[in-house]
Amino acid sequence: MTSDAEVGADIADDELTMGIDPWEKNWMRFSIALLVGFAVAITIAGYAAGFQLPGAESEVDPRTVADEGPWAEPGLREIGDGQFEAYIISQTFSFNPPRLTVPVDAEVDLYVTSIDVQHGFKITDTNVNMQVVPGQVSKLSFTFDEIGEFPYICTEYCGEAHAAMFGTVIVVSEAEYVASLNGGDADESDDAGEGD
Ligand code: CUA
Repeated sequence: MTSDAEVGADIADDELTMGIDPWEKNWMRFSIALLVGFAVAITIAGYAAGFQLPGAESEVDPRTVADEGPWAEPGLREIGDGQFEAYIISQTFSFNPPRLTVPVDAEVDLYVTSIDVQHGFKITDTNVNMQVVPGQVSKLSFTFDEIGEFPYICTEYCGEAHAAMFGTVIVVSEAEYVASLNGGDADESDDAGEGD
């Protein structure tokens, strides 16, 4: 009985290893160790070093998305104290909206999609850089803690005018932001008051 079982085990072991050369086995171990190493590196980058994978936040229909929910009115809106969300639609060869005015220190969830071909979305001088694929929503969060202008550009070749496809994030002081919400700057309302 036992000898039968041992013979069976030997055969099974032989079938499993298929007489693989020790060197080949070692290379296989090395390859697996590499994969584990990469997985650890990605985990550290994602959770400790602050890297985010854009990923597919959700799926949309590129033919109708521009009429749906928040996409029907792309742009920036406040969702909480200092918390904002921005919806941006990409198409050849522009971003809608072409300009985002953001108060300094705003934490913005950026949602970007495409209604035609594949584009890219990179905000200059930040680590925001993602692919924009039709049918998918790319999302990244970023805190704009510096006043200034930060162009966003298309980083995937999408046709003849690819190089002209860009927009601008304008980071302004809180006061300027409030003024911009009231339909322009305070000077304009002063001028309107003069017509008496
Ligand atoms: Cu859009 Cu290149």
